[in-house]
Amino acid sequence: MIKTIIYGCGEIGVRIAKLILKKRNIKIVGSVDIDKEKIGRDLGELIKGEKIGAEIFSTLSNALAETDAQVVLHATSSYLKDTYSQLKEAVEAELNIISTCEELSYPYLKLPEIALDSDQRCKQHGVTVLGTGINPGFLMDTLPIALTGICQDVKKIKVKRIMNAATRRLPFQKKIGAGLSLADFKKKLAGKQITGHVGLSESISLIADALGWKLDGLELGEVEPILAKEVYESDLIRIKPGSVAGLRQVACGVKKDERVITLDFQAFIGAKKEYDSIYIEGNPTINEKISPCVHGDIGTVAMVVNSIPLVINAQPGLITMKDLPIPRIYE
Ligand SMILES: NC(=O)c1ccc[n+]([C@@H]2O[C@H](COP(=O)([O-])OP(=O)(O)OC[C@H]3O[C@@H](n4cnc5c(N)ncnc54)[C@H](OP(=O)(O)O)[C@@H]3O)[C@@H](O)[C@H]2O)c1
Repeated sequence: MIKTIIYGCGEIGVRIAKLILKKRNIKIVGSVDIDKEKIGRDLGELIKGEKIGAEIFSTLSNALAETDAQVVLHATSSYLKDTYSQLKEAVEAELNIISTCEELSYPYLKLPEIALDSDQRCKQHGVTVLGTGINPGFLMDTLPIALTGICQDVKKIKVKRIMNAATRRLPFQKKIGAGLSLADFKKKLAGKQITGHVGLSESISLIADALGWKLDGLELGEVEPILAKEVYESDLIRIKPGSVAGLRQVACGVKKDERVITLDFQAFIGAKKEYDSIYIEGNPTINEKISPCVHGDIGTVAMVVNSIPLVINAQPGLITMKDLPIPRIYE
């Protein structure tokens, strides 16, 4: 039986826990969150209103005083500066980690010294740390990397994710500015309350690293508002024409003045067609499309849980998705 601790009992952490309850060989032995309303309760109460024997502790050390585990499933924040000390403590307690922290999907980009130091620490303690999820983690990096495996030659890669945010939860809709006036959107963008999609630069770096491409530059485009063309009304939100329906952000990896990797992320309410597409210019040229696009929360939770046996069996270190065997369902 694989014993896990859920670190961060928000939307994603709770959904991870829900999926684990369906797995025969994985058990949740405890959880951690800083929310005072949750601390001391049983995680099961947040999932199905009944106890599952996994208390929510205020810190990892408190959890480890009461229980032991092999793997931490971590979903607290998108940024390494916020998660670094949490991850360090877990590594020093000899726990493997799978995290949805976007910047951890390729930590060697923004904080290479910290990443290398963490890699050393993981090796000393014999554990593996992985940042994964749907995006970054799969759709805009691991999947295109895998598709190059059937190519004899690759010149360019273009990945597009278009998502109708109407089918997503309200916090996500707010995160992309849906319903705001253009002026308020710009204000929130300037105040960093709206950040665009975290992880595009990491996905580009992961692809380049996997393919052995040395990039000369990385262009991270501005976060562009997408304005509603008509009224959109759902149970959750009402958007007037001219108001913000969501956002778009494009990022490119540049080699010899050419954009060799382009990632185009669009999430807005009212998108008529939702899809994930991958275009690889090469021999052969590939046009792959998943339609409708994969639901982010479902895919993220699946990636985390399905990675558990792969991470346990991986070499110790701070690894990325390119270092693991191909993802597959763990039943
Ligand atoms: N890679 C991917 O594809 C992918 C996909 C989905 C989500 N994500 C990322 O995964 C993270 C979690 O997502 P979410 O939707 O579950 O967010 P969320 O609903 O905000 O949940 C985060 C939870 O972690 C708690 N937390 C924050 N700091 C903590 C700390 N120091 N110690 C313990 N608990 C802490 C939060 O408590 P408070 O509410 O009290 O702050 C909250 O309960 C986000 O950064 C999100 O962007 C990545």
